[in-house]
Amino acid sequence: MASVVVVLVLAAVSLAKKGRAAPTGRQCVQLEVPVSVNTTATHWLQQKVDSNIDAVDYVYDMTTWTSPNTTSRILGEITVKETFKITGQLCVPAKGSRSDTLQIATHGVGFDKRYWDAEVKPEQYSYVNAALAEGYSIFTYDRLGTGGSSKPDAYDVVSAGVQVEILHQLTALARSGKLVSSSKKSGGVSNLGNYRPKKIIQVGHSLGSAIVIGLLTADGASSDGAIITGFLYNSQIGGASLAPWGFEFAKENDPKKFGDRGSGYIVQATKSNTQLIFLKKGAFEPALLDYAWKIRQPNTVGEFVSLTTVLGHPAPDFKGPIQDYGFCRGDCKNTYNVTEIKSLYPASSALSVYLQPGTGHGLTLSTNATAGYKVSFDFLHASGL
Ligand SMILES: *[C@@H]1O[C@H](CO)[C@@H](O)[C@H](O)[C@H]1NC(C)=O
Ligand SMILES: *[C@@H]1O[C@H](CO)[C@@H](O)[C@H](O)[C@H]1NC(C)=O
Ligand SMILES: *[C@@H]1O[C@H](CO)[C@@H](O)[C@H](O)[C@H]1NC(C)=O
Ligand SMILES: *[C@@H]1O[C@H](CO)[C@@H](O)[C@H](O)[C@H]1NC(C)=O
Repeated sequence: MASVVVVLVLAAVSLAKKGRAAPTGRQCVQLEVPVSVNTTATHWLQQKVDSNIDAVDYVYDMTTWTSPNTTSRILGEITVKETFKITGQLCVPAKGSRSDTLQIATHGVGFDKRYWDAEVKPEQYSYVNAALAEGYSIFTYDRLGTGGSSKPDAYDVVSAGVQVEILHQLTALARSGKLVSSSKKSGGVSNLGNYRPKKIIQVGHSLGSAIVIGLLTADGASSDGAIITGFLYNSQIGGASLAPWGFEFAKENDPKKFGDRGSGYIVQATKSNTQLIFLKKGAFEPALLDYAWKIRQPNTVGEFVSLTTVLGHPAPDFKGPIQDYGFCRGDCKNTYNVTEIKSLYPASSALSVYLQPGTGHGLTLSTNATAGYKVSFDFLHASGL
């Protein structure tokens, strides 16, 4: 008799949890989007990473001052002409006052799209839920090389420039209203086939923010607004090092999880490296560190070396509002110059820099995440988005 009671109680708890993870009004469809890329990419002088010993030596090579600088690592250009599978999730609020404004969110290193949609206390941490509750639609996707997306060559193909081109194509597809109809549906609701947004806002985190910046530079007119989190042009950015990640060869770090990652795919070694990079003591719950470690994803060596190709150029055609939400190897206070940042977005209608107090690099995993989201939403509303 007692065991029956226990079973009932457990069932009630899991239902309650499910109810929170999928609040009424959350309609999502899981997609496999074919994205055809035809672009040039840089071919780099890089060390091969096929073992943990190689991975440590790679970090050594990338961080010692006597190693070749990025410019002198350029060996030439290659053509990347390939159709990739990009896995994504489109969510549209059932009754959203802003549902025809679509946020497209690009995650950074160490994660896949789940960075935006925590399954632990989603009501507090899921950015997807927060955006939906605010009335926005939102598309999150696995960056090339992560999650369910294709995992091609890690040296030249999975690189910042190619990631920019993929975001460019996804944005164009969404704007044309064909995102769902041109994709294979792998789950979720069936009533979003004709979803067509009127406005598109790019949201990024860390490397994802660099990719968004690359898109604003390449085709600023394609976006109506941008929220750049975990990234800020500042005096400390050059000092950010690869060392705290403690990178290991992904397949050797966890053969079960990462058996499908080839040469050049690297991942943070331990849960403590994850804390060091993303979370600040006192501003996170241990369950979120466990979660970040559980959902960790490798990135490629090509993504780091190619970052300079998409950053630091002005985005003259971007007219929307842009909010930078800082990252500076420590406290961002007094490390940046708004005049200099503004000069990169000469036509932007509004620019703001915001430093979320007491928070680590993993904004969506930090205790005060929801209040931070509110700051970004208020900024967008003030610009009519
Ligand atoms: C790929 O791009 C090149 C250079 O822009 C162009 O000449 C070629 O026709 C393109 N190929 C396809 C299949 O679009
Ligand atoms: C990079 O290295 C090359 C070759 O050693 C050198 O000519 C160049 O000045 C360096 N560039 C920077 C920005 O240090
Ligand atoms: C910020 O940058 C501008 C343009 O480069 C420069 O004129 C100004 O002196 C800088 N401000 C500070 C406080 O460094
Ligand atoms: C939480 O974030 C909000 C918005 O940035 C901020 O005003 C508030 O001070 C933060 N709270 C704490 C305890 O840091």
